Amino acid sequence: MKRYAFASFGLEHLRLVDAPVPEPGPGDVRIDTRALSLNYRDLLVIGGGYNPRLRLPATPLSDAAGVVSAIGDGVTDVAVGDRVMTHFIADWQSGPYDGRYLATTLGTPGPGVAAEAVCVPAHATVPIPDGLDFAAAATLPIAALTAWSALVTEGALSAGETVLTLGTGGVSIFALQLGASLGARVIVTSSSDEKLARCRALGAAETVNYRTTPRWETAVLDVTGGEGAHVVVENGGVGTLTQSLRAVRAGGVVAMLGALTGLEGTVDIAPILMKRVRVAGILVDSRAHFLDLLAHLARHPIEPVISDRFAFDDVPAALERQRAGNHFGKIVIDVA
Ligand SMILES: NC(=O)c1ccc[n+]([C@@H]2O[C@H](COP(=O)([O-])OP(=O)(O)OC[C@H]3O[C@@H](n4cnc5c(N)ncnc54)[C@H](OP(=O)(O)O)[C@@H]3O)[C@@H](O)[C@H]2O)c1
Repeated sequence: MKRYAFASFGLEHLRLVDAPVPEPGPGDVRIDTRALSLNYRDLLVIGGGYNPRLRLPATPLSDAAGVVSAIGDGVTDVAVGDRVMTHFIADWQSGPYDGRYLATTLGTPGPGVAAEAVCVPAHATVPIPDGLDFAAAATLPIAALTAWSALVTEGALSAGETVLTLGTGGVSIFALQLGASLGARVIVTSSSDEKLARCRALGAAETVNYRTTPRWETAVLDVTGGEGAHVVVENGGVGTLTQSLRAVRAGGVVAMLGALTGLEGTVDIAPILMKRVRVAGILVDSRAHFLDLLAHLARHPIEPVISDRFAFDDVPAALERQRAGNHFGKIVIDVA
């Protein structure tokens, strides 16, 4: 079978290699992958920014959907032939987050899924609901669950409340769709008017171009009667956090999940104090909350927005597309 591996950091070092079909150890299952999806994290992992001490060679990517083709000893709740998708933080099954879970994330340090077959712990899989195809299922494990974590787990969003989400990448478009399905009023920012028009078609109530309106937080305050949003989906990091804190309402939640503009810098924390803002750190979510998300989607179906689809041989080109940032929603790899 084929899998991707990089022996040195950098996308230029990513190679498609021959590898033996992996055999599942005790408690593991083998998934024959049918679709994968990309996340911004994959670029950081391959580039060495995520974990410079990562043991190489490594196989990247975390989101997969496929069919179970073998099970290891002791596996009772997953069977050969099951259609499954991956659960990113393998050992975070339910309850509060524990720092030890970080060592169990897929796509390093856990197994990477950019392969025709991969073995993962049985508890790092979730059944694919009937009616969802592999490509759609592959978009959910990180991006949709992270948006759910921001809006519901941490944001406790109610119908009629306002969500602000930054940009039009994978997480943000799920935040738009899930926010609308929860009955919230959604505001989206983007660098592109064309993308903002697509957001309005998906249900965004308000849109702001952050290039042509650099003080976009003022625009958010304007359209919320000066109050601000109940929940901000903070994808940007240090370059957007000060503005997000100004755009959230008193007592609101800034769901801090991304660092597209960087990790370190100066932030004005005054609004956190004066407005009693809660800044909630997000790391995807537990498997139990993944099941809650799927239950919500069963009642309120949404069609994941797939920006581009690439063949398995073209994973490097797909990652270049992700890096360019011109996509809208998710990028999917079809595995033949
Ligand atoms: N903590 C977690 O659990 C978690 C989970 C998933 C992702 N993340 C993080 O969340 C971020 C987004 O991930 P993703 O996979 O959705 O990325 P993505 O699909 O690559 O999103 C890229 C988009 O972000 C937007 N963007 C870039 N700079 C921006 C800025 N200064 N202000 C507003 N929007 C900006 C752009 O939208 P426009 O083209 O519309 O301008 C760009 O197309 C990344 O930092 C990622 O590492 C964290």
